[in-house]
Amino acid sequence: MAKFIIQGRKPLKGKITVSGSKNAALKIFPVSLLTQEPIRLFNVPEIEDVFRAQEMLISLGGEVKKIKKGVYEIKFNGKKSLDMPASLVNKFRASIMFVGPILAIYGKVRFPHPGGCVIGAGARPIDLFLNGFQKMGAKVKIFRHECGQDYYYLTVKRLRGANIFFPKISVTATESLMMTAVFAEGETILKNCAMEPEIVSLAEYLNSCGAKIKGAGTSTISVKGIKKLKGGEYKIIPDRIEAGTFAMLAAASNSGEVLIKNCQPNHLEALWTLFDKIGVNYSLTKDSVLIKPAKKLLACDVTTHEYPGFATDLQSPYTVLMTQAHGSSLIHETIYDRRLLFTDMLTQMGANIIMADPHRVVVNGPTKLYGRQLVSPDLRAGMALIIAALIASGRTEIDNIYQIDRGYERLDERLRLLGADIKRVE
Ligand code: UD1
Repeated sequence: MAKFIIQGRKPLKGKITVSGSKNAALKIFPVSLLTQEPIRLFNVPEIEDVFRAQEMLISLGGEVKKIKKGVYEIKFNGKKSLDMPASLVNKFRASIMFVGPILAIYGKVRFPHPGGCVIGAGARPIDLFLNGFQKMGAKVKIFRHECGQDYYYLTVKRLRGANIFFPKISVTATESLMMTAVFAEGETILKNCAMEPEIVSLAEYLNSCGAKIKGAGTSTISVKGIKKLKGGEYKIIPDRIEAGTFAMLAAASNSGEVLIKNCQPNHLEALWTLFDKIGVNYSLTKDSVLIKPAKKLLACDVTTHEYPGFATDLQSPYTVLMTQAHGSSLIHETIYDRRLLFTDMLTQMGANIIMADPHRVVVNGPTKLYGRQLVSPDLRAGMALIIAALIASGRTEIDNIYQIDRGYERLDERLRLLGADIKRVE
């Protein structure tokens, strides 16, 4: 298994460029099923999750052509396949995004529970999606496939517009119902929607191809059904999570000037508000962030929240940053119940962290960190461990880096340009 080997405490300075947003890129592949015209994509991040989305599109009868780095042309040719291959569905949760478009064009779709079995404990739920499709007229059956895995089978004669209230705010459920409603008969009103910039970007793209979507970026979205969608061009917005993570890396390292380029700082206002309280020395332009060494970092509590609040995807690097700040900070993770478990590895590295319950930890800082042998548990925690290793004394080995490659493109190469000592060992 590939791993990263990091020799910590090298001064970090220079420029780093932010890639296209993973969470925006992943959604354009399912959207491409809604038209048989080609779509030209720009600023595509070349990361494992995006490769899985490309494979899914190809397995359903689509084509993916790389024009040059970051520029692709994708096209769906309408070959009928209502089965989503388990080998891909099991690999990435965003595969759930293909369900609505397949249902919209074929009236049926079969797929296993993303990431595992239907009743399996701990599987991330998909009830918000299923309830939405049912409101639009779909019938949902669960059956045991010959491979032994439980599958969902959804059928509908004609999707119809519906009034859908999400009992919980979900990014992918909002996007999925929004794209599915494009071909439903009449108007769909989605309430208590997520408001992330990736949703706004997706709605703008769909509207540029003929869809009639209003309200994306607010909690109520309306979609008027249409009959045909054109192809078009989609420029993927910069990854705000990557930009925020690099900013926290530079602040935690506190060793030189780091310029983070090609980003949209206006998507990270919750982070800048915290930086003001912590005392991070930063300045912003329309598309860049400059972090300079600060005199002293102060601890500050944080609670994760849906956009525009502080993103759960930024929580793990923030927790590492707090190990370098003076005082105690309470980190309250409200969205996922397993996202603080990685702090155990920070404790092994020398951090002073007390877990109050699965949703809350208290970090007492500042503490020195020391290199250790670690395993990346997931994408965001894996990235946080890299930050911890870069500021720690000595050598750290991080195993299972597929989990990091899922969302960060050529991370080791880009960090080396800042002066980091990080090697990939296959
Ligand atoms: C998306 C992002 C992910 C981010 C998360 C929260 C993508 C591909 N991923 O994930 O990076 O961490 O938003 O900002 O865009 N839930 C249900 N039932 C459902 C669906 C979700 O209960 O049917 C719950 C989840 O368990 C979680 C909460 O809703 O507690 C939010 O999850 P959701 O926004 O759906 O996360 P994702 O869209 O999967």
